[in-house]
Amino acid sequence: MLELGVNREVKIMCGIVGYVGNKSAVDILLEGLTNLEYRGYDSAGIAVNPEGVVKLYKAEGKLQNLKDIVEKNYGEISKSTIGIGHIRWATHGAPTVANAHPHTCNCGKVAIVHNGIIENFKELREKLEKQGCTFRSQTDTETVAHLVATKFAQTKDLTEAVRLATKEIEGAYALCVIHQDVKNTIVATRRNAPLLVGLGENEYYIASDVPAIIQHTKKAMYIDDNQIVTVTPNSIRLIDEENNLIQGKIETLPWEPVALSKMGYKHFMLKEIHEQPDVVRNVLSGKLRAIDEPITLNEVTLDKETLKNLNRIQIVACGTSLHAAMVGKYIIEDFCGISVDVEPSSEYIYRKTITDKNTLVIGVSQSGETADTITAVRQAKAKGSHILIVTNRPDSTMAREANSLVPVYAGIEVSVAATKSYMAQLISFYLLAIYIAETKGVSKDELSDLKRELIVLPQKIEKILAHKEDIQKCARAFSSSKDFIFIARGVNFATALEGALKLKEISYINATGYTAGELKHGPIAMLDETMPVLSILMKGKVYDKILSNSEEARARNARMIALTDSDDVKLNELFECIIRIPEISEILSPALAVVPLQLLAYYIAEFLGKDVDQPRNLAKSVTVE
Ligand code: AGP
Repeated sequence: MLELGVNREVKIMCGIVGYVGNKSAVDILLEGLTNLEYRGYDSAGIAVNPEGVVKLYKAEGKLQNLKDIVEKNYGEISKSTIGIGHIRWATHGAPTVANAHPHTCNCGKVAIVHNGIIENFKELREKLEKQGCTFRSQTDTETVAHLVATKFAQTKDLTEAVRLATKEIEGAYALCVIHQDVKNTIVATRRNAPLLVGLGENEYYIASDVPAIIQHTKKAMYIDDNQIVTVTPNSIRLIDEENNLIQGKIETLPWEPVALSKMGYKHFMLKEIHEQPDVVRNVLSGKLRAIDEPITLNEVTLDKETLKNLNRIQIVACGTSLHAAMVGKYIIEDFCGISVDVEPSSEYIYRKTITDKNTLVIGVSQSGETADTITAVRQAKAKGSHILIVTNRPDSTMAREANSLVPVYAGIEVSVAATKSYMAQLISFYLLAIYIAETKGVSKDELSDLKRELIVLPQKIEKILAHKEDIQKCARAFSSSKDFIFIARGVNFATALEGALKLKEISYINATGYTAGELKHGPIAMLDETMPVLSILMKGKVYDKILSNSEEARARNARMIALTDSDDVKLNELFECIIRIPEISEILSPALAVVPLQLLAYYIAEFLGKDVDQPRNLAKSVTVE
């Protein structure tokens, strides 16, 4: 048993779904959880109220285990027209049935599911134990179940009980609560964790994210921090933390249910890689209208004056989004002449940064829910910086911090490995760089050339996707390698890092990206006939340099792979495998060169029989530090 203080239950993007209405709840809950499954989780559970008694069903491991339990009791469970469900992903505290949600109180009448962390759970638990509460799990969430139960005993009002309980809890949460004595009612609330209500005909859905409910409704209300929503089959009531009534805004969700289907592909990752030509078209649509027209970014409010006063740009992001940011730095500096720093959000937030009102801070995030990046942009906002958010989720927490927003519209990305969202982020950075350059009045032929090239980029990606044989051959030849080195220079250094990240996260092969010039300062010592070195050799300023770095690697017997837009036959002598892609300008080449690297990682992982869409230990969004 872990010590209380150490056993801080950390949930990384767990999933919540709730339903109250006139249909059987259980199928809706299980379908909702299935649609959130891609986020990564290690246990699951539901609470229903079939015959006036709240009942919990929980299982370790895959959702199928919970489905099997439900199946055995389906006759009874399916009578319930109310229920809440959860998938839990734990980094601390065992993924056991006892720790799985929902959690309950002593009498078992309260059931609660929770995303986030209750930071003061230890003190609360001690207090509640003294009051006679018996804990059955090691989680922080159970404290909320007991706390709500004690408040309910005093108030006999579930909404009020939840409201009073949230006054005592510190940390981040999305909570969904039912109580046996309050028929057909769900109370839900949030602080720094996403939550929305879906509206149907005499029915309401609660979810931590859109995929859980999109099959049923496109009408939704996003709940803001500290608001509490109470739903019954035919009513919805929203209040703030002081019990004031609030008029919620009903929105139409911009997602299609088809986004959650594999559309005949074996994995979501492969489908999402193939969606990239259309993703580029979507991102460009309405923003790049004609070569001689300026780029339109409707939600960017950076005017000439603000740009004139800018001293620097700081870009904060994590993982794949960080790699898009690195390309962003390169192109913004190149086109706009403004100094740009890129830093992982998790580093940025723990140091004294030179950030002020003359700093533009750009947060990049597919999910818009990455905790470190949210903290970083909030810190920068507090210092008076203009906050620009590049995200695939304009409905996210991060987007709400934005002074300027660049929604990338890649569509729901299900595979844990980011592919099409990276593409959408890259294209958004090209547009943003041109936009800043044009707003500043920089007039360059290069801007027009880049616009021209962006328009034909989708066809070039399609060409790669239509001829995957060389990539598959290369994947087969190298799938037994234990290590991989990716080298590149300049704007494609980020591509090397992204190629290595894709490979390691889905195939678990140790892969590292290096700037090719650094090879001889240490990494070259690792080279021998067992080490594959993949050189990203795109024509341009650094082509010859990387070629000579590749020769140095070959001379140490490394197994050489080239990814190139050159048709130079001399490469055949140097490289065991050559992946050729259409010719492209060096500045735009990251958007093309990454595609074969995504495919290479995919095919290697596939050959190795890995769980491509849900790699071990990973979650789609990292919503806690
Ligand atoms: C990408 O393949 C990763 N799974 C991961 O690095 C991801 O990019 C990172 O966690 C950042 O997420 P975000 O873009 O949603 O902020």
